[in-house]
Amino acid sequence: MIANCLGKNEKGHLTIGGCDVKDLAQQYGTPLYVMDEGKIRETCRMYRDSFRKYYGGRGMPLYASKAFSCKEICRIVNEEELGLDVVSAGELYTALQAGFPAEKIHFHGNNKTPAEISYALDCSVGHFVVDNLTELELLDHLAGEKGCKARVLLRVKPGVDAHTHKFIRTGQIDSKFGFALETGEALTAAKEAAKAENLEFCGVHCHIGSQIFDVAPFVLAAEIMVGFIDQIRKETGITLEELNLGGGFGIKYVQEDTPPQYDAYMHAVSDAVHSKCKEYGLPVPYIFIEPGRSIVGEAGITVYHVGSVKEIPGVRTYVSIDGGMGDNPRYALYQSSYTVVAADKMDEPCTKEVTVAGKCCESGDLIQENVMLPELKPGDLLAVLSTGAYNYSMASNYNRIPRPAVVMIKDGQPRVIIRRESFEDLVKNDV
Ligand code: LLP
Repeated sequence: MIANCLGKNEKGHLTIGGCDVKDLAQQYGTPLYVMDEGKIRETCRMYRDSFRKYYGGRGMPLYASKAFSCKEICRIVNEEELGLDVVSAGELYTALQAGFPAEKIHFHGNNKTPAEISYALDCSVGHFVVDNLTELELLDHLAGEKGCKARVLLRVKPGVDAHTHKFIRTGQIDSKFGFALETGEALTAAKEAAKAENLEFCGVHCHIGSQIFDVAPFVLAAEIMVGFIDQIRKETGITLEELNLGGGFGIKYVQEDTPPQYDAYMHAVSDAVHSKCKEYGLPVPYIFIEPGRSIVGEAGITVYHVGSVKEIPGVRTYVSIDGGMGDNPRYALYQSSYTVVAADKMDEPCTKEVTVAGKCCESGDLIQENVMLPELKPGDLLAVLSTGAYNYSMASNYNRIPRPAVVMIKDGQPRVIIRRESFEDLVKNDV
């Protein structure tokens, strides 16, 4: 199985967190997102433990809430003593509503509005990860007006090619995010941050991409960032004490995916940070990382009922499900690979090659093409695995299809953490 929270029972049904997926589909309806809390907590603990192991506890993993944001996930990661990365006032509001401590939140974004900055200052957000000079000036000004000091990290493009899909590669010069090192822009920003009266210049940040399997680009980025901290010290006299190295650790979507153990990234990056700091005679900074996908991705699945099965002789067979790009736009956007299984026919041989299609009025509304599944008929159940990250958070109401519910399993007990949208929800803002 793709993830250790998944299994198969004696009835030949898929299980998640020990629950029979067919029972869950009957109880809660489909489409349905199901997540395993034990798996999420296990990954949070692994990251936290690795900070003890590799940095003597001088660091903190932040959960990148863009991967899946709702109140309950904020409560869970807070209980696991992680911090949080938010990228909009909406994600910030969600976290605060869940009682997440503001001081453990890093506020990201390449175009934070004055209203968002003001709100975040009023909430005493822990750090602003500043993306550009316009924001730097605005933040300094607004913090001054409010008579407070904002803690700042500068987002830097270290220029590392992380060999990932080009839509999710963010560490290069041609990226809308952050200050480039090569052009001197990052150093200019550091000098500005150092002299800004209402800013406390704490450190630097980078994020080189997402769904990365190689350890090497993370090591290279960490080395470059420590080098930049050294350059800032030489040019401004300030020794930065914090370094945020972003997220991006890959997960398993299909059997062929072989992400390294997360501990391997942590170990290699820690070695790089320590040896570079030694080389430059710098104190080892307090380290942050921002994993999103790797915390929730493999912990989630989406369950659908099969509707029509359309065999086009000599062409292909479309198996249509009761969800689609509205709840999972990732195939339409990135041609992402997924494992699809027949959740109530796990023991049956996969003899048919089919394309799994959604119900939206759009030809590109596919979940996966050319996958092997058992013979399927209307009413059968399909499950798409590893949908815990960037599925619910990227879901839409296209075609006015209500968003599915999210059920969380803990110790074999399911509970709804996000209710299914109703038709009333769909029209509630219509005038
Ligand atoms: N930190 C920053 C600054 C980021 O931009 C991101 C992701 C993360 C952390 C978390 O990265 P993760 O550990 O989840 O890879 N919608 C795309 C992914 C976009 C990722 C954007 N930034 C997808 O569905 O694959």
